[in-house]
Amino acid sequence: MIKKIPWAQPLIGKEELLEIKDCFKNDRFTQGDKVKKFEKYLSKITNSKYVVAVSNGTVALDLAYKVLGLKQNDEVILPALSYISTASAISYQGAIPVFIDVNKENNCIDVTKIEKAISKKTKAISFIDYGGNPAHHKEIKQISKKYGIPIIHDAAQSLGAFLNNKPLGANGDISTMSFHMAKVMTTIEGGAIFTNNFRFYKKLLVLRNIGEGPIKYNHILLGTNARMTELQAGFGLAQLKKLNFILKQRKRVAKLYDSKFKKVKNIAKFKIFKNAKHANFFYPVMIPNRDSIAKKLKKIYGIDTRIAYPKPIYKQDMYAKNKLKFKKLKCKNTEEISKKILNLPIYPQMKNNEIDYVAKALINLVK
Ligand SMILES: Cc1ncc(COP(=O)(O)O)c(C=O)c1O
Repeated sequence: MIKKIPWAQPLIGKEELLEIKDCFKNDRFTQGDKVKKFEKYLSKITNSKYVVAVSNGTVALDLAYKVLGLKQNDEVILPALSYISTASAISYQGAIPVFIDVNKENNCIDVTKIEKAISKKTKAISFIDYGGNPAHHKEIKQISKKYGIPIIHDAAQSLGAFLNNKPLGANGDISTMSFHMAKVMTTIEGGAIFTNNFRFYKKLLVLRNIGEGPIKYNHILLGTNARMTELQAGFGLAQLKKLNFILKQRKRVAKLYDSKFKKVKNIAKFKIFKNAKHANFFYPVMIPNRDSIAKKLKKIYGIDTRIAYPKPIYKQDMYAKNKLKFKKLKCKNTEEISKKILNLPIYPQMKNNEIDYVAKALINLVK
């Protein structure tokens, strides 16, 4: 019998329901104590001075660039292989994404290419920790310092990851996260912005609230409505209490896959750098005939997977065809990885026999 195995599944239960009921009991659904509590909790676990909870990870990035004051034709350097929002938030400002390659070792921004992409117009460097696997943060910071260019760290996939025993949170001048349904921890839809800069923080609070200053109906900045609801924050509070358990279970799944694929010829994996702790948001493998294998996994075995991401962002129609402005360096690794990468199912409640089932199916198909 064909099993049905999703690629992701949030761990949601009565704890979340209790928080939602609490919103009804308090008759408070937006701009209340739960959002503040959620921000405080996030600040503690990520070592970030200031946290601003918002409605999703895309708007978090948009506000990050608005805080920097990114303008038309300014340039931002970013990896060509990421979720679209890493780039679209730059384009929202009329600015120019400058795509550079990822490295082959862990599929994060290739730090040896950043300096080549810097111009007089470069106003930020952005990067992600692919699938929760920490990028070369130290090297990126050194370049940022050398040229005085701020970092917008798109940490959408990074919650729970560590580098040199420090949690990934306010690692850039501004970092942003997503708490979308499939992420390590979820508020269903949601996100947050992290910074240690008080001036940025004050500006973010205004931008999140449609630019409204301290006086009601007085709008001092061009902001948007990016507010997180009490329902979302309540959900997040329940999830954060389980975060360690969730991360442990994700690690269990990843380790079991690792042991199954150790000696399999056609399954390649990325490296985890020394001093890095993976959050195991994705479990990526690189395989030949990826598209046909992904289809067979679904059709024959009922296994759902994700191709993240199927092409470099500059090949997305919004850039390639619709003439949104962009620049790029040569992205050989990105081109290659996007043809081979496949993310296998990973979620905390995944049973060992299900991991075994997925591993056997994949091994069988790559033979
Ligand atoms: C790297 C990256 N950036 C940004 C986002 C956008 O977050 P959201 O879906 O919450 O808008 C995501 C979400 O998938 C992501 O993975």
